Amino acid sequence: MARPRVYVTRALPGNGLTRLAARARLEIWPGSGTPPRAALEAGVAEAEGLLCLLTDPVDAGLLAAAPRLRVVSSCSVGLDHVDLAAATARGIPVGHTPGVLTETTADLTLALMLAAARRVVEADRLVRGGAWTEWRPDLLLGRDLHGATVGLIGLGAIGQAVARRLSGFGCRLLGWTRSGRTVPGVEPASLDGLLAGSDFVSLHVALTPETRGLLDPARLARMKPGAILVNAARGGLVDETALAARLRSGALAAAGLDVFDREPLPPSSPLLGVENVVLSPHIGSASVGTRIRMADLAVENLLAGLEGRPLPACANPELRTSGPTRPPGG
Ligand code: GLV
Repeated sequence: MARPRVYVTRALPGNGLTRLAARARLEIWPGSGTPPRAALEAGVAEAEGLLCLLTDPVDAGLLAAAPRLRVVSSCSVGLDHVDLAAATARGIPVGHTPGVLTETTADLTLALMLAAARRVVEADRLVRGGAWTEWRPDLLLGRDLHGATVGLIGLGAIGQAVARRLSGFGCRLLGWTRSGRTVPGVEPASLDGLLAGSDFVSLHVALTPETRGLLDPARLARMKPGAILVNAARGGLVDETALAARLRSGALAAAGLDVFDREPLPPSSPLLGVENVVLSPHIGSASVGTRIRMADLAVENLLAGLEGRPLPACANPELRTSGPTRPPGG
C-alpha cells in the first residue's frame, strides 16, 4: 500500500521526522519561516496528514483545500490557530503537545517574573552601556518576588507548575479559573479580587473567543498600583495598548511578556518604547529537550491519526467514539 502523504510546515528538532519518513511520504516546507498561505494550501491539497506549528493558520478554508486530510498534528499545546470545530465536523482528529512543555514553560514564567521585578534586563543594558560608574544604594531598586501575593489566572497544568515553584518562594497564591477549579495551596478569588490583591499577576489560560481581551483596559486599571504582569500564555489575552500606557505612567511597576497579539511584535507596537517591560520572542517551551519531546509527541499524534489509532494527545477526543478515521473511500 502506498505510504500516506504528509505535509510538514517546518523541519523539527530530534529524529521524529526520520521515523515519520519511514511510514509516510513527507513534503517539508523548505523555507526558514512560515509557509505563505498559497504554499500551505498547495501543500495540503493532496495530503492525508498535516504536521504544523502554532504559526500556521489551520482554518476552515485550509481544511476545505485539503479534501484527503485525515489528521492534523500541531507541535504546540495551544490550538488557537486551528479551527477545532471545523476539523471535528470533518471527523479530523487534531493532536497537540500538552504535558511535555509544562515545566519548561513554568520555568520561563518564573524567569520573566524575576527579570521584570529585579530589572535584570535594564541592569544588563546599563552595564553594557558603560553607565555603571559606582555602587549606589539606590541603583535599580526592584520588587521582591519572595513573600509576594501572586494571582494566577488559569490553573491548568502550567498554572499549577508555576504555583509549585512560587510556594518555594513563600508567596501567597490567589487563583481564578473560568471553570471554578480549585487547587490546594491556591486561594480561590474572583477575577477582580485577584487583580486588586496581587503584587504579581500571571496568565495561564488558553486564548479562545471567551478569553480574548480578558485583561481589557478596565481590568488592567483594577490591578494593584505597582503590580507586575507576566504573560507566557497568549498575547491576545491582554490589551497591549492599555498595558503600555499603564507601564509608562508607573501605575504598573513592570511586565514580563513572552507572547503578543501579533507575532513577531511589529515595530509599531507601543510596548517597544516602554522601558519597564521585559520582552521575549515566544520562547516559553524553548529548551533543547522540550522542543524534541514536543516534536516526538507531534509525530506520534500524526502517525496514530494516519493509522486510525487514538491520538496520544487529542484535542477533539469526542471523535474516538465515532471510530477510527479511514482513508477517503476506505
Ligand atoms: C506555545 O505557545 C504552545 O502553544 O506550544
